[in-house]
Amino acid sequence: MENKGKALGSELPAGFGRLFRDISMQVKDLSDDDRVWVKERTELLFGGDFVLSRSEVHDPHKLPGFIATEGRERIGLITYSIVGDTCEVVTVDALCQFIGVGTMLLEKVEQAAREEGCTKLWTITTNDRLDAQRFFQKRGFFISDIRLGTMTKIRLLKPSVPRIGDYGIPVRDELEFEKVLAPLPSS
Ligand SMILES: CC(C)(COP(=O)(O)OP(=O)(O)OC[C@H]1O[C@@H](n2cnc3c(N)ncnc32)[C@H](O)[C@@H]1OP(=O)(O)O)[C@@H](O)C(=O)NCCC(=O)NCCS
Repeated sequence: MENKGKALGSELPAGFGRLFRDISMQVKDLSDDDRVWVKERTELLFGGDFVLSRSEVHDPHKLPGFIATEGRERIGLITYSIVGDTCEVVTVDALCQFIGVGTMLLEKVEQAAREEGCTKLWTITTNDRLDAQRFFQKRGFFISDIRLGTMTKIRLLKPSVPRIGDYGIPVRDELEFEKVLAPLPSS
């Protein structure tokens, strides 16, 4: 996938980016005012305003989630879906990559999931999304399933899903990641 925005901290000395992030970024609940924007971002990133997950259809703009902001700018979003004691990270989208936006958003979902009593987080990505694969694995997720060639079927339902994805890699397979959540300490 193309780099969708310049990393705010990219020309700064090591460590400064994180400091910058800590003092200037905020995360808030996704509100009704954000939903049109979420829909636009989903269309841009996933080739349609819905995403397919296993055999389910999700409309990210109708799901709970969080928005990262920098001043008045929206710089990231995450949506999720809780079913029973598992929480799916349906979409995560950092408009400025590698300065901590994704981490802040994932931490919020993890906290929300724990508060709802979830014991597992899971997510799906495609073989070309190397940044996401690295991101999730460095944050405690492991690969729990690989579905080879499934993007061909998905394209029958979503013809606009690109054939070539991040870094010029053909988009072919789905990878599922999961993370076991430790229970909240009892008060
Ligand atoms: C995956 C994604 C959400 C990560 O968000 P992010 O804001 O860039 O992530 P952060 O800045 O919080 O964390 C960066 C981490 O990503 C990893 N990373 C992946 N590729 C990297 C790269 N090219 N350079 C630096 N870090 C990279 C590092 O492991 C880094 O972790 P570290 O801080 O422990 O070293 C973001 O890359 C993105 O929006 N990608 C496109 C959408 C997508 O693929 N979504 C997932 C499918 S739903």
